[in-house]
Amino acid sequence: MQIAIDGPASAGKSTIAKLIAKNLNFVYCDTGAMYRTVTLLAKKHNIDYGDSSNILKLMNEHKIHFINKTDGQHVMLDDEDVSDAIRTEEITNNVSQVSAIKEVRTELVEMQRQMAGDINIVMDGRDIGTTVLPDADVKIFLIASVAVRAERRYKENIERGIDTSLDVLKDEIAARDYKDSHRKISPLKKADDAIEVDSSNMNIEQVVEQITKIINQKK
Ligand code: CDP
Ligand code: CDP
Repeated sequence: MQIAIDGPASAGKSTIAKLIAKNLNFVYCDTGAMYRTVTLLAKKHNIDYGDSSNILKLMNEHKIHFINKTDGQHVMLDDEDVSDAIRTEEITNNVSQVSAIKEVRTELVEMQRQMAGDINIVMDGRDIGTTVLPDADVKIFLIASVAVRAERRYKENIERGIDTSLDVLKDEIAARDYKDSHRKISPLKKADDAIEVDSSNMNIEQVVEQITKIINQKK
């Protein structure tokens, strides 16, 4: 069974996808982490975030993969655990430029399809239901208002000891949504057969419950 969860920034996709994968004993794949790792790769090598040929060259020279540890899935760039390094402001604010590059998407989409193979998987991102797994058994488009998403990210930052402004977070989230939904190649878009779940007024447990119901109906 393939479950696709797409939606805008900070809608709760990875939190929900991880819990659903754990409950169902499915593999989880965070495709956003892959685009973030390519962005980090460019940064490490001082390559411009719009330089498609050099970014592609770097992608061919390095390996992006996931490993499972007791505390969950970790993202690896070759032998280095980059799970934290890909979540910095610098990467978050530049990932949309890298993810708009056609060649980057072609390579990563191919890797994502190979990862999905014919196993039970929950994959989250922006184009899973439209492009990566167009035949997914369940497609969810998870949304929440910008204000709610910024507040959630704000709380998360406070817990991590990062001091941010709520207004700046709102602007950053809205800017990333705009870039992700207006790029030429597989923009953020609800698939025609996706079910929209608006989590603006729902906590994590309620979202998991609603999506689990949708999955059980499909089973
Ligand atoms: O977790 P958050 O909502 O901050 O974003 P993410 O899922 O980690 O994705 C980071 C960025 O990668 C997005 O803003 C998109 O630019 C890009 N992305 C994409 O283009 N396609 C995907 N399937 C997943 C992410
Ligand atoms: O993956 P995505 O960027 O869509 O979002 P996330 O990183 O899973 O969630 C962003 C934040 O919202 C996390 O701190 C979640 O714990 C929180 N969250 C929430 O408070 N209520 C929900 N219904 C979903 C997520």
